[in-house]
Amino acid sequence: MNIRHMVPKQIHVLVIEDNPGDARLIELMLAEHSDDGYQPVFALRLAEGLEAIARQPFDIILLDLSLPDSHGLGTVEAVLESAPMTPIIVLTGLADESTALAAMKAGAQDYLAKGQGDGETLRRSIRYSIERMSTEEERRESGERLRRALMQTIQAVGLTIEKRDPYTAGHQQRVAELAAAIGRELGFEPERLEGLELGSVIHDIGKIAIPSSFLNKPGRLTATEFALIKTHSVIGYDIIKDVEFTWPIAKMVRQHHERLDGSGYPDGLKGDDILFEAKIICVADVIESMASNRPYRAALGIDVALAEISSNRGRLYDPDVADACLKLFAEGRFGFTTSAV
Ligand SMILES: [Fe+2]
Repeated sequence: MNIRHMVPKQIHVLVIEDNPGDARLIELMLAEHSDDGYQPVFALRLAEGLEAIARQPFDIILLDLSLPDSHGLGTVEAVLESAPMTPIIVLTGLADESTALAAMKAGAQDYLAKGQGDGETLRRSIRYSIERMSTEEERRESGERLRRALMQTIQAVGLTIEKRDPYTAGHQQRVAELAAAIGRELGFEPERLEGLELGSVIHDIGKIAIPSSFLNKPGRLTATEFALIKTHSVIGYDIIKDVEFTWPIAKMVRQHHERLDGSGYPDGLKGDDILFEAKIICVADVIESMASNRPYRAALGIDVALAEISSNRGRLYDPDVADACLKLFAEGRFGFTTSAV
């Protein structure tokens, strides 16, 4: 998108300014540049300004911070809340520069000292603010697209492993569903939740290096075969440890078979040495595995799985994670949406 095209032909300007002299001056300065197509609307109070915003969209808002019904940074915040995508230019008194800078930090695009500058300064500030806002918006959108592509790529990687191992098809996806539900129950912020989901969706990625004849073996595994399968968490860690995720995904993968009392693998970590996300994936993994069919056994069922979590709560499984998980099922607030084989 060419940014130069982002400045609209008609520029709807909302001027929230209680001083009639200052408002009049702005009106005159805008009229000087009538070619730019300014369509100003004036409001004397914050409440009046917010009403105008509710009635029609604006391209730019000129905002005095000292209004009869609002003062200081709260004024910017109130306007931002009502019109988050509209650029704001703060109008300040000469002594108010620090407030103006704080307003910029809060989300305003620019500031102008009242009584200084001319029509040209105002015009430039309006153009600059509108263009800067659309650049920010473009950057935000492309960041969002990248984030989605990352999620989809990781999901595709997760699916690749499962294609070799039909018995666990959908396993990681279902573990991710349950892990996310537990994380949400424990009050995870959306960002942390996203990392937990990513880690869950590829927690068994190391199985790519395990012969599929072992993974699909119908009978009991020999000790050697089991030892080999257990290497999948370290292999998974090695595969992704150099990817610069913003979350500790490699650790989630490495530690998802660790147990609270140190009886897990590969490192025999205990208690707080285990990443909290890994403790969640661990519980979700146990539940999903027990509730699904395996080459060597039929599904044990969700009740048996929940009994396992509840009887080993605090010994193998983190008590908070176990409680959150048991509560979700007890209250009927969780069900797998992707089906098991
Ligand atoms: Fe695993």
